Amino acid sequence: MNKTKLAVSMGTAIAIASATTTLNAAGDMVPVKAMADALHLVMDSDRTIYTRKIVNRLVKKDKVIKASEHFEDDKALVLPAQMFRFGAELVQKRSEKLPDVNFSYSLQSLWPVNRQNAPKTKAEKDGLKFVAENKGKNYYTEETLGGKKYFTAVYADTGVAPVCVSCHNKHKDSPKRDFKLGDVMGGVVIRIPIDG
Ligand code: HEC
Repeated sequence: MNKTKLAVSMGTAIAIASATTTLNAAGDMVPVKAMADALHLVMDSDRTIYTRKIVNRLVKKDKVIKASEHFEDDKALVLPAQMFRFGAELVQKRSEKLPDVNFSYSLQSLWPVNRQNAPKTKAEKDGLKFVAENKGKNYYTEETLGGKKYFTAVYADTGVAPVCVSCHNKHKDSPKRDFKLGDVMGGVVIRIPIDG
C-alpha cells in the first residue's frame, strides 16, 4: 500500500469510528424497552435450550444424570435457575468495567423454592402478578430506588419442559406443587437505569 492509499484508508477508518462513537454517544438510538426485550429474548432462549436440550434430555428422558443444587458434590448438572444466576452475576461483574453497559436482571417467583428469589420491590410484585394472570403479556414500569430512576420490565418464566414442572412440584421447599407444563412459574426482572 502506498502512502496516499494508507492515508485515505486511515481517514475512512477514523470517519467510520467517529460516526459509530457519535451514534453510541447519542444514547437513545435503542429505546430502553427494545433493549430490555432484546436482552430478554437472548436470556429466555438460552434458558429454554439449556433446559430442553441438556437438563430435560439427560435427566428426564435418557436418565443418565441428575440436576442438583449441590452439583459439585453430587457431580450433577447445574440447575437452570443456577445457570441463569451465574450468568447474571458474571454480567454484573464484567459490566462494572463498561461505563455504557448498565442493567441488571434476576429470576424471581411468587412461589419461590428459594425465598431469596421472592419479589422485593412493588414493581417486582405487581409485575410477577401481572405476567402470571395475563399469559403472553409483559409488564413495563418505572421505579425509583435509592434516589435513582429505573425502567423495569418483567417477563413470564414458563414451564417449557416436563422437568421444570416435576422438579418444582416435588421440591421440599416449593410452596406450590401443582404446576403444569406451560404454566407461568415465575418471571425475569430486567432493570435499566434512566435519567429522571
Ligand atoms: C432439577 C430441579 C429443577 C429444574 C429442572 C428446574 N428448577 Fe427452577 N428452581 C429449582 C430450584 C432448587 C430453584 C432455587 C435455586 C436457587 O435460587 O438457588 C429454582 C428456581 C427457579 C425460579 C426462581 C424462583 C424460585 O423458585 O426460587 C424459577 C422462576 C424457576 N426455578 C422456574 C423454572 C423453570 C421455568 C424451569 C424449566 C425451564 C425450572 N425452573 C427448572 C429447581 C429446578
